[in-house]
Amino acid sequence: MKGNTTIISQEQLQIQADYYDRIRAFWARLEQTPTAYVETYGCQQNEADSERIRGMLAACGYTMTNQAEGADVVVMNTCSIREHAEQRVFGNLGALTHTKRRHPGQKIFLCGCMAGQKVVTDRIRKSYPHVDGVFSTHHLWEFPSLLYQVLTQGTRAFSIADEPGSIAEGIPVLRSSTLKAWVSIMYGCNNFCTYCIVPYVRGRERSRMPEDILAECRALIASGCKEINLLGQNVNSYGKDLGLGVDFSDLLAQIAALPGDFLIRFMTSHPRDAGKKLFDTMASFPKIAKQLHLPFQSGSDRVLKAMNRHYNRAAYLELVEYARSVMPELVLTSDVIVGFPGETREEFEETMSLIRQVRYDALFTFIFSPRPGTPAASMEDPTSKEEKNRRFDLLCATQNAVSEEIHRAYIGKTLRVLVDGVEGDLLTARTEGGRLVRLCADPALVGTYCMVRITGSTTWSLQGELAREVPHG
Ligand code: SAH
Ligand code: SF4
Ligand code: F3S
Repeated sequence: MKGNTTIISQEQLQIQADYYDRIRAFWARLEQTPTAYVETYGCQQNEADSERIRGMLAACGYTMTNQAEGADVVVMNTCSIREHAEQRVFGNLGALTHTKRRHPGQKIFLCGCMAGQKVVTDRIRKSYPHVDGVFSTHHLWEFPSLLYQVLTQGTRAFSIADEPGSIAEGIPVLRSSTLKAWVSIMYGCNNFCTYCIVPYVRGRERSRMPEDILAECRALIASGCKEINLLGQNVNSYGKDLGLGVDFSDLLAQIAALPGDFLIRFMTSHPRDAGKKLFDTMASFPKIAKQLHLPFQSGSDRVLKAMNRHYNRAAYLELVEYARSVMPELVLTSDVIVGFPGETREEFEETMSLIRQVRYDALFTFIFSPRPGTPAASMEDPTSKEEKNRRFDLLCATQNAVSEEIHRAYIGKTLRVLVDGVEGDLLTARTEGGRLVRLCADPALVGTYCMVRITGSTTWSLQGELAREVPHG
């Protein structure tokens, strides 16, 4: 234990690693090479966790497939953020009864944020008997022993004990991309925004040690990774629990000082804890992308207070102004919730005026979804669904017009992009600010930085043509 955090010891992890060999031996006796399918819902934190689950499965001898049909193990890594996300999982879990009937040896696991809610795990126990195992995010490191139990004893395995949270270093990772990597720098959240389920399902805020994060980044850069995405629910409070005097800006500066040709991105920044030091650090290191995701959630001070966000409209706007003053080229994105309980038309108008004033490059817009057990779920909510949908549509239309205008202003500019994939006859690439560019060029350029002249735009993306390639080094 360190504060509220359970540090999983190397001995405990070695016990899990011993199961890799046992599971390999299990399949060797059957003379089979087993396959696994991991389906990920929700945010990048879950993507990062799925890469660790795949890493453990690969260590157990499994080959990954891209469908549940015929897979020996299916893992559903779930999200609870909105009701719709959970409904999708329950629907897809139901469909797995059929894949299991066709392949009776199939073992099905559910993990992620839904596994952190007792109402969900009770429902799985009772009504989804084809699910063999459930583990919450705190117990991800125990997956090998749970898998072994399910395989060899045929019993169901539940590892869902509630706890403030764990940190396990050294779990194998099977990354989805060699170019871009997710690096969780911390887990959990302490903010308890009144609408949000994350603190309940992911536990208290806990930071990884700076040297563990730096070692992971060094290894990624050495293996050719070009983009390091640092992840946390509120990265600006990184290090507070460690008491080492290293805050998020210090960590960023240490990573940015590593040799190599790469960019650092990060999310999410909470306006409550973001400040001048962060923006000055971003401005002074060329390897830190000039991109900021700074959710504002609402433009109304009354609603922000009811959300327990700990900042007001004026303070938020001041942050944006300062960030733009030190980084004029900053690409700014945000999250907003429409229809929070009791949001009046006037309060919604304040959100509309904020987005017009700030002019975000892009916005992630959500309609409030009551999450059982959170304070907002029991707040009075007299606004009709139709009215909320109307506000949502209005907000999206206004933002889309802004995004379209901002994208159009790129036309004629020449920018450095990282070519990151192939899409039909075209290549995809990302600007430093994270904007998507499509271009027609040689697929051999994937994985390199190129100079691209922007020739066209839409609300969501840019089109370009190769200007000249930047030599590496
Ligand atoms: N930690 C991040 C957000 C993580 S959740 C932060 O504080 O910014 C991503 C987004 O989902 C949130 O920013 C919020 O806009 C939205 N969200 C969270 N809970 C929600 C709910 N109950 N209903 C609708 N949207 C929600
Ligand atoms: Fe949820 Fe708020 Fe924590 Fe973000 S900061 S994860 S919105 S409680
Ligand atoms: Fe969803 Fe959990 Fe992320 S609730 S948004 S997967 S932290």
